[in-house]
Amino acid sequence: MKKILVTGAYGLVGTDLVLALRKKCKKNEIVTLSHSTIHNQFDVISEKGDVRDEKNLEKIIKKHHIGTVYHLAGLLSVASEKSPNLAWEINLGSLKKVLDLAVKYKLKVFWPSSIAAFGPTTKKNNTPQHTVLEPTTMYGVNKVAGELLCQYYFIKYQVDVRSLRYPGLIGYKTPPGDGTTEYSVHIFYGAISDNKYTCFLKKDTRLPMMYIDDAINGTIKLMGASSERISIRTSYNFGAINFSPEELVEQIKKLSPGFKCDYKPDQRQKIADSWPKSIDDSQARRDWGWSHQYDLKKMTKIMFNGLKLKISNK
Ligand code: SER
Repeated sequence: MKKILVTGAYGLVGTDLVLALRKKCKKNEIVTLSHSTIHNQFDVISEKGDVRDEKNLEKIIKKHHIGTVYHLAGLLSVASEKSPNLAWEINLGSLKKVLDLAVKYKLKVFWPSSIAAFGPTTKKNNTPQHTVLEPTTMYGVNKVAGELLCQYYFIKYQVDVRSLRYPGLIGYKTPPGDGTTEYSVHIFYGAISDNKYTCFLKKDTRLPMMYIDDAINGTIKLMGASSERISIRTSYNFGAINFSPEELVEQIKKLSPGFKCDYKPDQRQKIADSWPKSIDDSQARRDWGWSHQYDLKKMTKIMFNGLKLKISNK
């Protein structure tokens, strides 16, 4: 049995993905790769290393007979603006290494793109699958280049690489990363600990969002679909809900009366303003049957209660 390698296994997507894969696979069929020293939190095989180290990647792939890689390691939008060179090396450089190893070892690969692949010149509402891709952030530049690289490796070397343009993802099992849509996670920490939060985006900043369980289900469904159903080898538009901070605040107030949110937009506003407000993901729904389960109300309730429990158990 060929094993699954998950890079960035302790990040927002990685954590929930490994837990979901764990329900389908035996613990010795999953290998995590992380640069941190947190070891075996998931009770699977754990390896330590840097995704930029191609020799180490190859060693792990050979040692564990890897057949599928979920290559999730990466810097988010805000972190990428702080360290553009590092973002280039990790977000794009390591993808190239994984794809080269995929050619050599016939690996199936998942790689996450993002709504950040779009830019200010893209249609903002119901953004189409095929449209202008002129992002103005380093993260977005990495995502567009990465999407094209994936498609190139599929055409030239028949690498079975699949990708989704993730919207802002919301989950409580890991602390929020250094991104722009992450206000939607920080806000729950504020609501639970102080019943207040200062939002770094304007109250009417509408962005495409998704509860993490939907993202994980979609990712696993895409990877399980037969190849003939995959017509997009750059990256699929992938949507669920969209909302603004003030709409999220209204929902949180229902669970935490008296919750107060004020707004102090900073440099992250510019990033958010360059992204779409809603996504047309009909191609994913048609091709491989994507559908989401969580609306804003359901997501808010699960986030609030889940995070509250997590914090009180600490
Ligand atoms: N959550 C990401 C970010 O804001 C978007 O893909 O950086």
